[in-house]
Amino acid sequence: MNDVLDFINVHRDRYIDELTHYLAIPSISALPEHAADVRRAATWTAEALRTAGMQNVRLVETPGQPVVYGDWLGAPGKPTILFYGHYDVQPVDPLDLWTTPPFEATVRDGELYARGAADDKGQVFMHIKAVEAFIKQTGGLPVNMRFCIEGEEEVGSANLDTFIRDHKEELAADVVVISDSPMFDRGVPSICYGLRGLAYFQIDLRGTKSDLHSGSFGGAVANPAFVLTQILSQMKDRGGRVKIPGFYDDVRPLSDAEREEWKKLPFSETKYRKELGAPRLFGEKGYSTLERVWARPTLEVNGLLSGFTGDGAKTVLPAVAMAKVSMRLVPDQSPDTVAELFEAYVKKLCPPTVTLTVTRMHGGKPWMTEFNNKFVRAAGRAIEQGFGQTPVFSREGGSIPVVSTFQDELGLPSVLFGVGLPDENAHAPDEKLDLGNFHNGVIASAYLYQEIANLE
Ligand code: BES
Ligand code: ZN
Repeated sequence: MNDVLDFINVHRDRYIDELTHYLAIPSISALPEHAADVRRAATWTAEALRTAGMQNVRLVETPGQPVVYGDWLGAPGKPTILFYGHYDVQPVDPLDLWTTPPFEATVRDGELYARGAADDKGQVFMHIKAVEAFIKQTGGLPVNMRFCIEGEEEVGSANLDTFIRDHKEELAADVVVISDSPMFDRGVPSICYGLRGLAYFQIDLRGTKSDLHSGSFGGAVANPAFVLTQILSQMKDRGGRVKIPGFYDDVRPLSDAEREEWKKLPFSETKYRKELGAPRLFGEKGYSTLERVWARPTLEVNGLLSGFTGDGAKTVLPAVAMAKVSMRLVPDQSPDTVAELFEAYVKKLCPPTVTLTVTRMHGGKPWMTEFNNKFVRAAGRAIEQGFGQTPVFSREGGSIPVVSTFQDELGLPSVLFGVGLPDENAHAPDEKLDLGNFHNGVIASAYLYQEIANLE
């Protein structure tokens, strides 16, 4: 292990340099004009795996972007880790709020700023480098490893479930390892044992065949912008509770044990509020902030569009209005059931004065695991060795839908050990990765493989 650690320490700066090249590829999966860049990132990822010493590296085509696969299976009798991550990134708008360009990674105060630095290229790269250090120094890995890195995570992983079902043998493993989440706080590494699920929709309303003069026609027909806000205002009560009938029916109540554990976590609502710049925190009554984000479902409006939004004033009656609405789900809610409840409720609320279209976009199941399994304990020891601190156990509000697919289709447990931070600005301007966490993360990843190899 010492040789491996030496290698990681010696090559620390080279890693950042290489990662900068990875981050320079604008692999934005949501934007069709970047499709070639997304593919370029796949090729780059494959090359990085080959350089690290992984074998059978290739791009596996899907109807969308390819999955990068690579394995190293030279440790017979030892466990096999299936590593999952993603090489695609979120769009960068609003561009003018970035301090430095999103695809020119820049170091400031020990943090590397770039789109994808934390979510998820930086964390994928951390594992590739841990593998490289092992293979270069010892000629192999202490465990068997398979990498499966996709390019459509940020747009709902539409082709991944099929990929997994079609490649069950190639994905055979004992445990899934994922680093695609923040740690609990700066200096407080964590292992995540729960993620929320997602059900995402677009609502389109049409009032008339085109925009109208609001003086000549205002009062004669319904305004879809106004109807849309009336529909949306019926989604939650003033106490933050979702009003869709049946929405909470399958919600697993938060256990007293979890509640007690979470009260012990070093979390300050005031500090959290100030960091967010919010005048007040808000959410479902009767739950603390951590409880609301980790263990309660929510409904949010992700975007709204209608009418005239430029400078000045225009007296117009818009023909259409659109909203993007999504719900974060918790065990044991099902995205399909919730989708049906949502659609039925929107239809019921919508008056006959406008035409309604509800489009179901991506979804994903919530996930939660028993965290006392041997792999999670091994990860705990690895983090302790990499970060010099015992990790706390956390749940997260975000979603990684494939985690439940790994459980359901391959029967595999997952270990989520992320080295991002709550203020990493994922999906926002100035996304960043703390370089100390990255370095400790490479070390912790190397320890993780060793710890899993040592398991009986
Ligand atoms: N890295 C995130 C998932 C995440 C975020 C985990 C915060 C834990 C905490 C991932 O890249 C992501 O953004 N997932 C999407 C999934 C969606 C597009 C289906 C999300 O959560 O919005
Ligand atoms: Zn993301």
